[in-house]
Amino acid sequence: MKMSFSVVLAFSLTMLVGCKEESAQSKQQAEPAAQVSKSVVVYYSQNGATKTLAGIFKEAIGADVIELQLANAYPSTYDSTIAAVGAQRESKQWPALVNARRELARYDTVYLGYPIMFGSFAPPIYTFLDSNDLSGKVVVPFCTYGSGGRKASAAELKELEPNANVTLAMGISNRRITAENGAEIAKEEVMAFLENLAAGKTDEMLMGGFSEQRPLTAEDSAVFATATKDYAYLSLKPLSVSTQVVAGTNYLFLCTMSGFNRPPTETMVKIFKPLPGRGEPELIVVEK
Ligand SMILES: Cc1cc2nc3c(=O)[nH]c(=O)nc-3n(C[C@H](O)[C@H](O)[C@H](O)COP(=O)(O)O)c2cc1C
Repeated sequence: MKMSFSVVLAFSLTMLVGCKEESAQSKQQAEPAAQVSKSVVVYYSQNGATKTLAGIFKEAIGADVIELQLANAYPSTYDSTIAAVGAQRESKQWPALVNARRELARYDTVYLGYPIMFGSFAPPIYTFLDSNDLSGKVVVPFCTYGSGGRKASAAELKELEPNANVTLAMGISNRRITAENGAEIAKEEVMAFLENLAAGKTDEMLMGGFSEQRPLTAEDSAVFATATKDYAYLSLKPLSVSTQVVAGTNYLFLCTMSGFNRPPTETMVKIFKPLPGRGEPELIVVEK
């Protein structure tokens, strides 16, 4: 089962590389024979959540793995890491890695994993991108985060790597993947993500099963309040909601987001409410 799925996925991704190359080169060349692609998982993880996710991708795909390692690790406390990363972002002096430059020629697909820091990928990823040429490769981003950053980081990756084929991105919150059954949940989500990827789904297509946005009921507001009770980062005010029935209910709340002296902006907040008796509503992502 795992093998055949890997082959289907590899075939689909090989076609993605093929499409990109075909558009760039002469169309008169003979179609290249479909071949199983060679994949590598490249990731950075400070505290282990992204490492867990990288391990799940490696298992699912049967890929090689490269863990990017800082020459000088970030400090051990959250606040001092914030200060260190803030300074790196400010100066654009990306941190040295002990293994920045990698031999990637034999891979056509790079699964690139990172924690979200300051709304996008962690600084070691800039060092990796500066040191390696991903042109012509399929790049599959995946991340862990506190509240969000999946789409924004994938968009930045597309900008920085215009000659790579950056696909749909996968993300999961730190709270979910580090929960007691977090590795299992993450595995299910990775498998679902890989199926969507192999089927060529886009974020827009994946939104398909949701109803139209509608005014909030008291029950919607209660779901929102429960799921966001520990979210202290920015102020979120729900305006309307749409839902999707799965094994439980997915909610997409349109919210205004404010704080940190930023003008209020609109954002989508995704919440999952399990079936009755299976747990509390849970914050999945704040799309920023
Ligand atoms: C310096 C720093 C900045 C962070 N910035 C964000 C952020 O902007 N948005 C977010 O959702 N999470 C943010 N986080 C949370 C991490 O993305 C999250 O804890 C992640 O799962 C850590 O992954 P790791 O265990 O692999 O290091 C930040 C964490 C740190 C240490």
